[in-house]
Parts: sequence; C-alpha cells; structure tokens
Amino acid sequence: MDKIIIEGGNRLIGEVTISGAKNAALPLMAASILTSDWNTLHNVPHLKDISTFKKLLAHLGATIEDNGNTIKLCTRDLKNHEAPYELVKTMRASVLVLGPLLARFKKARVSLPGGCAIGARPINLHLSALEKMGAKIAIEHGYVEASAERLKGAKIYFDISTVTGTENIMMAACLAHGKTILENAACEPEVQELAIFLNKMGAHIKGAGTDIITIEGVETLKPAEYTIMSDRIEAGTFMVAAGITQGNILIKNCPIQSLDALTTKLKEAGVEIKTENSGTRVIGNYPITSVDIKTLPYPGFPTDMQAQMMTMMSISSGLSVITENVFENRFMHVGELKRMGADIKIEGKSAIVKGRPFLSGAPVMATDLRASASLILAGLAAHGATEVSRVYHLDRGYDRIEEKLAKLGANIKRVKE
Ligand code: EPU
Repeated sequence: MDKIIIEGGNRLIGEVTISGAKNAALPLMAASILTSDWNTLHNVPHLKDISTFKKLLAHLGATIEDNGNTIKLCTRDLKNHEAPYELVKTMRASVLVLGPLLARFKKARVSLPGGCAIGARPINLHLSALEKMGAKIAIEHGYVEASAERLKGAKIYFDISTVTGTENIMMAACLAHGKTILENAACEPEVQELAIFLNKMGAHIKGAGTDIITIEGVETLKPAEYTIMSDRIEAGTFMVAAGITQGNILIKNCPIQSLDALTTKLKEAGVEIKTENSGTRVIGNYPITSVDIKTLPYPGFPTDMQAQMMTMMSISSGLSVITENVFENRFMHVGELKRMGADIKIEGKSAIVKGRPFLSGAPVMATDLRASASLILAGLAAHGATEVSRVYHLDRGYDRIEEKLAKLGANIKRVKE
C-alpha cells in the first residue's frame, strides 16, 4: 500500500490541467451497454474507479480498447448480465449498469452495494423507479434480481435528489416503451453530460440540468463518440490548494461555470478568482476569512468539496459552521484533521471549526476519497511533515494528484508502505 509524504509550507505557483470527470465518465461507460457497437470516449481520466468499471464491463463481455485518455468500448457480444459483489463492493457506481442491462437484456443481476464510509447509501429509489416502469425486483442472496419484458414509461418522483438514481433511470427509460417523466431529478452537470451523450446516441431526452427530465423511449440507440467534461471536484480541490497555500495557480480546463457555489464561498474567504484566456487564475491571500457552508444537491454547495473546505477553515481567522446535508456520515476526516491540531467539534449534522494559526504535520489515515484530498491539502499547509496512508482512496478519484502538486512546487512524494 502506498502512502504520500508531504513537507508543508510551500506556496503553490504555476499551471495545472484538470482531467476528465470521474463521475461523468462512469455513467457514460455504463450507457455504452445500451448500444451494440463501438462507442468512443475521449478525455477519460486515469483512475482506479475507471479501471474497476472497465473490469466490470469486460466481465459482462464488452471489448475495450485503451489508448491513453481515449477508450473504445464494444458491447456487441455482451453475454453476462451480472455485476458481481467483488466489483460492486469496491465501487458503488457499479450500480449504474442496472438500468442499462435491464433495458437491453430484460434482466439484470447486480450485487447490492451495502453501506460505505460516508453513509448507508441505499439504492431504494433506483429500485422503486424501475418497479414503476414495470420491472420485477427481488433481493436474493445479496443481489438485486431485476427483470422486465420491456420497461414502460412512467411518472417518477424521487423523494430525495439522487445523482446515480437519476442517471440509472434516465438510461433505462431511453429504451422503454413510451414517455418517462422524472420529477425532483438531480440537476448535477454530470447528469446533463449523460443526457447529451444519450441524445447523441439517438435518445430523446429533454430537461436534463433541471429537476424535471422527460425521456421519450426509442426502439434502439446507435453508438457515439464523445469528449468527457473536466472534473469540477478536481478543479475545486486545486482552487482550495491555491487558497490554503497563499498560492497562485492557473487552472486549465477548469469547468468554472459549474463551480458557482464553491467560488462564491472561496471569494468570501478572501481567495481571488479570475477568468483568463487560458484558464481560471486562483490566488490565495492571508488571512483566510472564515465562512459557513451547507452542502446541498447541485446547484448547492457540493458535498464532494466539504472536506477540502473544512481543511481550509481549520486555518481561517474565525469560526465556521459546516453543515453536511447530503450524507449522514461524511465527517470521517475530522478526527484526522484534529490530529494535525485542528479545532473542530461535531454537533449533529454540523462541524464547528475554530480557525487556528497553523496545522502541524502528523501521520494521518485517509478514510474515503474526498477525505483523502482534505488531508493532502492539510499537509500542504501544515508546518512539518504529514504522512497520509491508505491513499488507494485518493487513487480512485484523483488523476496523478501528487505529480500535479509537485509541478506546482509542493514538496510531496509517494512511497510504498
Ligand atoms: N439516497 C437514498 N436512496 C437512493 C439513492 C440515494 O436514500 O436510492 C440518498 C443517499 O443515501 C444520499 C442522498 O440520497 O444521502 C444523495 O445520494 P446520491 O444518490 O445523489 O449519491 P450517489 O449517486 O451515490 C453521486 C456521486 C458522489 C457524490 C453524490 C452527491 C457518482 C458516481 N457518485 O453519488 O460522488 O458525492 O452523487 O453529489 O456520481 C465522490 O466522487 O467522491 C462521490 C462520493
């Protein structure tokens, strides 16, 4: 197992290029199941989650050609309709194959993901929506067994805004008979991205990006070629890296239009953000002003940036209240940040962060993907050395982050434990 060692204190200065978005790439890869020919995806990031999803598609019988950031996927000879526990347990997004498999093969067997570090994360809303569309669903031996002759369009109201739930049902509805209306649908940019890709494949989807999405089912879809959007959470993480180190970073391929909630809070905290011809320039200033944050579904403040902002607030000039409304257990980084000297108290859904003049380097352990990023950021700003272990979480969602940070001047290295 690798760990990352950071000697803190360097200002990050220079340019960084953001990779393709993990949470956009995964549903697009799942959507390839809906066709039976070669789909081409460009700007695919190098991540553990992407290789896990490739393994899953290969297990189903897909042929995959890998050429750097471009992958070609052929799902003509799919022979299997089962997503096994071994793959689903390492990556919950595997559940995204449920809707497409059911739509194409009339049956699917997908391991139930179970809980994870950030919350219980049930998939009840995916399942009840498919049932409304006429699927028979049973849970047997830890697997979702789903079958349907042909799914039929339905009006579906999601009790909670769910990103992969909206994506799963949107994909299933593309090949259903008749019209499906999704109400309280997730508005995340990754949902819009999937709708654009599906429409390129011949689907009839309207309203993606709003909370009402209408899908008119078609008989078949054709393959498509597509370039995946850049990762807004990776970009946001580098913005915080500039802010926390009083750095000056030009972020290239920065999807600034989908980062309003974050940039508003960063500006309140005293970070300068300017759009330039070749990217977004982010300049950190001292002191960092404390700000309150409440996570919400898009366009609200992203839960995937909560941990990183908490690190920044732990060295701000005042008191900050950070409220996590999306997941019930997404404060696993708090204990680790406290080991570095942060003053944080959890009260229910909120963390009360009292800014301190500095953090001090310490050995810490990553618990999930975004928590790992928050600890790396803490290490960059801390006095002395920080060792972050269990960085496999980081590798799931950040494309060569230590290389990108080192190029910006961070004193960071990866070592084998
Ligand atoms: N929920 C239910 N029932 C369901 C589905 C969701 O109760 O059937 C609840 C969840 O437990 C949670 C809330 O609804 O409390 C929102 O969960 P959502 O379904 O939107 O999350 P997700 O689709 O599983 C995606 C991202 C996450 C990101 C969340 C929220 C992907 C592959 N994953 O997860 O990304 O945090 O949306 O924006 O798109 C990450 O990249 O680090 C990550 C965790």
